[in-house]
Amino acid sequence: MRLQLLNSVNKFQHRPKASATTIMNELPKPYASEELSIAFYEQHGNEYVRNQREFYSGTKDTGREFFRNSLAPNIEQLTIADVGCGAGDDAITYKQMGAARVIGIEPSKVMLDEAKKSVETSGLTIELQQGKWDRLPLPDESVDAITARYSFHVVENLNTSYKEVARVLKKGGVFLVGVPHPIHDAKVAKEQNLKPGEKMKVPLFHGKFTVDIPPHTMDEYLSDTCKQYFEIEEQIGYSMHEDVTEKEPTGLLLKLRKI
Ligand SMILES: C[S@@+](CC[C@H](N)C(=O)[O-])C[C@H]1O[C@@H](n2cnc3c(N)ncnc32)[C@H](O)[C@@H]1O
Repeated sequence: MRLQLLNSVNKFQHRPKASATTIMNELPKPYASEELSIAFYEQHGNEYVRNQREFYSGTKDTGREFFRNSLAPNIEQLTIADVGCGAGDDAITYKQMGAARVIGIEPSKVMLDEAKKSVETSGLTIELQQGKWDRLPLPDESVDAITARYSFHVVENLNTSYKEVARVLKKGGVFLVGVPHPIHDAKVAKEQNLKPGEKMKVPLFHGKFTVDIPPHTMDEYLSDTCKQYFEIEEQIGYSMHEDVTEKEPTGLLLKLRKI
């Protein structure tokens, strides 16, 4: 299955050489730990899954299309790990697309149980493991692709996770990332007058509930460590809310190729 990225994704398109603006790098430091994020999903995981599915049912999801288009050309040959897989919806899609092997990795037990239920219902063979970015439960150079749909930005130290992703990816493997855009983080951090170490309070699904997320800058996403291990093949700003009236990108999509 090959899905086409719709033109609207290009509204905010940034090419890899685009320089980060000052606002994206003006954030309080140091960032808080990601443990709070896992606790959030332990508490609200089931509700999150219901809302997430409802929100995107019948709505285009540009981030997902980007991931699928990136994987589609030779998916039958790929071992794909979806990290922070939540209820496993993307893992299931990759298997339905014909991926050779799919592994869902998730730290929250509540989310992992949701994923187990979804996988069982699908009847597909998908491996599920408990784990998180700082220590992925995978051998060295064992996977062709790692996907991270709104799970990578929760980490405190992106560089530690980049090293870990580079450890488990094969040479030439791809790391696909969808995160809140640093412009969005900087705006929220400013509005909420965040002090160093404080997290942003981000309302999800039209304010149904709020998640605490550490803000990140563009320089952190495209850090020297990132560039040491990966070539930045694509860098796209888009509306994660699929809202055409948004003036600035709220989501950032990255396609990173392990050197
Ligand atoms: C916004 S949800 C996204 C879930 C799924 N990828 C999706 O798109 O529906 C974030 C997920 O990241 C997981 N997560 C939180 N901290 C993590 C960590 N340190 N490492 C990996 N995943 C983490 C959460 O438990 C949650 O399932």
